[in-house]
Amino acid sequence: MDIRGKRILVIGGAGLIGSHVVEELLKEDIGEVIIYDNFCRGTHENIESSLKDSRCRLFDIGGDILQTDILEAAMKNADAVVHLAALWLLQCYEFPRAAFDVNIRGMFNVLEACVANNIKRLVFSSSASVYGDALEEPMTEQHAYNNWTFYGATKISGEHMFKAFHNRYGLEGVCLRYMNVYGPRQDYRGTYIAVMMKILDNIDKGIPPVVYGDGSQSYDFIYVSDVARANVCALQAEVPFGFYNVGRGIKTSIKDLAALLLKITGSKMKIQYEPAGQTFVTNRVGDPEAAERDLGFKWETDLESGLKKLIDWRKEHMQHHGSRRDFS
Ligand SMILES: NC(=O)c1ccc[n+]([C@@H]2O[C@H](COP(=O)([O-])OP(=O)(O)OC[C@H]3O[C@@H](n4cnc5c(N)ncnc54)[C@H](O)[C@@H]3O)[C@@H](O)[C@H]2O)c1
Repeated sequence: MDIRGKRILVIGGAGLIGSHVVEELLKEDIGEVIIYDNFCRGTHENIESSLKDSRCRLFDIGGDILQTDILEAAMKNADAVVHLAALWLLQCYEFPRAAFDVNIRGMFNVLEACVANNIKRLVFSSSASVYGDALEEPMTEQHAYNNWTFYGATKISGEHMFKAFHNRYGLEGVCLRYMNVYGPRQDYRGTYIAVMMKILDNIDKGIPPVVYGDGSQSYDFIYVSDVARANVCALQAEVPFGFYNVGRGIKTSIKDLAALLLKITGSKMKIQYEPAGQTFVTNRVGDPEAAERDLGFKWETDLESGLKKLIDWRKEHMQHHGSRRDFS
């Protein structure tokens, strides 16, 4: 889709990835970007700089995907929708009914409103959680649904409701299966990336960074601006429907991640190993080829540069706010 001059609704646009999607969209010759968010996790601070752009506004009547008439009003005259709003993994684990409401019923509301408003393209934030632990590496989009979590179940459901709506009503777009997203504005609640913030806290305090288990758990870390760009590529692409991995295709163990953080910060401390706690997935790496071929998306930020940007943001954020960014 040619997004020049178009009006795009970004649902969940005040969150970690959403706020970066808004920024990436504003780099384009876009008509208008409307942020729709209920701020249960997103923040005004995340979107403060984007709102200074006259092409960007917050839908201020409301922002909940469970309020269908308000959602419907926000979608009026929009050309495309990027849907990122969801409850996160641990919340889905603790509160499956709430997760059902937001991630499944909420997704259905978004699909229904898209059809009612003739939305030309929808980009849905799915997750690598649909795969669970890797049975084959790298995981292609054909990898089995080896998921055992309720969060993953909600994402599989979202993907398949979208597929059925594409088939039934011709609603076009893609589902993006993000690997492990990190970067500025992340908090301490990212199930796999919180370790970065905790390690940095320890380094600040002069105590050894803690790694749980043997540190061999490995993930495909991808920088948040790259993920945001993948959303823009997915809007611009012509593919009528599909599922795509958004990752780098590079596996990094938690042990290597901790070592890299120690190196970047110039710390001489040694990693302290403690017994493994609860982990949902211990091995994950996505094949990025299909996204490059069909969406024209290629990651740009390597792990070391991305972590440096995260560290700079964290430092600046703590100077302004005096404490760590912890909402729990
Ligand atoms: N961060 C990751 O590593 C990762 C990995 C895979 C998939 N995802 C998916 O990407 C999307 C964005 O993730 P994120 O990390 O930016 O999370 P986030 O929690 O920072 O962003 C989600 C946003 O949705 C909003 N929201 C929640 N419930 C809502 C509702 N009922 N109505 C309207 N808004 C609501 C929140 O306030 C928040 O701003 C989510 O769908 C998530 O499941 C994230």
